[in-house]
Amino acid sequence: MGDKRPVGLFDSGIGGLTVFERVTSILPDESVVYFGDTANVPYGGRPVEELVRFGDRIIRFLLQKSVKCVIFACNTSSSVSIGFLREKYAVPMVGLVEPGVRMAAAATRNKRVGLLATEATVKSGSYPRAMAGLDPEITVFSQAAPLLVPLVEAGKTDTPEAEAALTEYLEPLKKAGVDTLILGCTHYPFFTPLISRILGAEVVLVDPAVATVEEARRILAEEGMLANPGGARYEFYVSGDPGEFDRLAVLFSCRRLPPAEKVEL
Ligand code: DGL
Repeated sequence: MGDKRPVGLFDSGIGGLTVFERVTSILPDESVVYFGDTANVPYGGRPVEELVRFGDRIIRFLLQKSVKCVIFACNTSSSVSIGFLREKYAVPMVGLVEPGVRMAAAATRNKRVGLLATEATVKSGSYPRAMAGLDPEITVFSQAAPLLVPLVEAGKTDTPEAEAALTEYLEPLKKAGVDTLILGCTHYPFFTPLISRILGAEVVLVDPAVATVEEARRILAEEGMLANPGGARYEFYVSGDPGEFDRLAVLFSCRRLPPAEKVEL
């Protein structure tokens, strides 16, 4: 039969587009409802209660749109609020942390993995905890990078400011000798060329979105909820300025996206 209901995706802003891109390639038949909480970006410096409250109203909005599962296209929410929200709602939810850790564990040769993420993600300890559960011999070196999300949201990914910030954030990870780096925020893949230049091509960059969307595909297949081929539709909603979101989406995405619509949650 095929399940035509859309997949829900959310982030604080434009970063979730890096996950959306993976959905379009790994789950090309699925419709998507994307919510960017651009009135509240950045999430990275916010307390747990606030992130849970934001997540709660976003899930309610996505459920009104009849989503069949929710992919957390935000590491901060995947680290901080997914546990609370899973207890409250029955809809399947897929977060970035465990899939990201599996990818990093498979990639590292020297068992030294770097994590570049928001302050809230680093503070939550989600990645080192998940890694300890998977392979206790692997050490995760965490670095918070609070300047990066505002740079992406301002469209400044390839600028001297971005290079200076990344050089500073990556220095301790370089010193720690990591051979693998988890891009622990969905805004960071936009910096991939710059990060590779600073760390060198021998350091493997892991984008958790790949394994996360593969996990979503597995869940949908198991539950008999995959869509039939053809007919994927995409809808974008934001809590802030839709024109600004559209402008950044054109800058960062290689595909033409439908215009975003503003919603008050
Ligand atoms: N892109 C999100 C993440 O992956 C949120 C970043 C932020 O708003 O600080 O963590």
